[in-house]
Amino acid sequence: MLTAKMQDALNTQIHEEFFSSYLYLSMAAWCESNNFDGFAHWMRMQAQEELFHAMKIYDYVNAVGGRVTLKAVDAPATEWDSPLAMFEASYAHEQFMTKNINNIVDIAHDEKDHATENMLQWFISEQVEEEATVDAICGKLKMLGDSGHGIYMMDRELAVRAAPAPPAAE
Ligand code: FEO
Repeated sequence: MLTAKMQDALNTQIHEEFFSSYLYLSMAAWCESNNFDGFAHWMRMQAQEELFHAMKIYDYVNAVGGRVTLKAVDAPATEWDSPLAMFEASYAHEQFMTKNINNIVDIAHDEKDHATENMLQWFISEQVEEEATVDAICGKLKMLGDSGHGIYMMDRELAVRAAPAPPAAE
């Protein structure tokens, strides 16, 4: 059983995860229009992964007898100055998402809502991984600077990202 406050927090997070998917798809579209096919592929995979995140919370809310209510998804940014600027925006976004998850864990903790706290542990680990992955990409792109050859190689490296698998239900 979810409190109204927790249900609202989880519905807001479902919205944030859908927005994340939309943002990464927008980044994929920018990459595609600039012939960064590998970066575009990576962003498409990330957009898919964010849908899985949204659905994991959606399924959880239903599983505990709550009510999912969807909100409007805002339009994401559409332009970035460079692949590095785009990945830096992605990193900032993931830091924002980590903060959101931490805030909901705090609510679960205050409410002694152990089931929700347990479900959110998966997201805590996931956010550590997502921040680390994007931070590493930013670091490599910074090393490459304006090297067209280097960025081309990096684009190829990110082209092989495997399709994400849906996380297990709680
Ligand atoms: Fe689902 Fe990348 O936060």
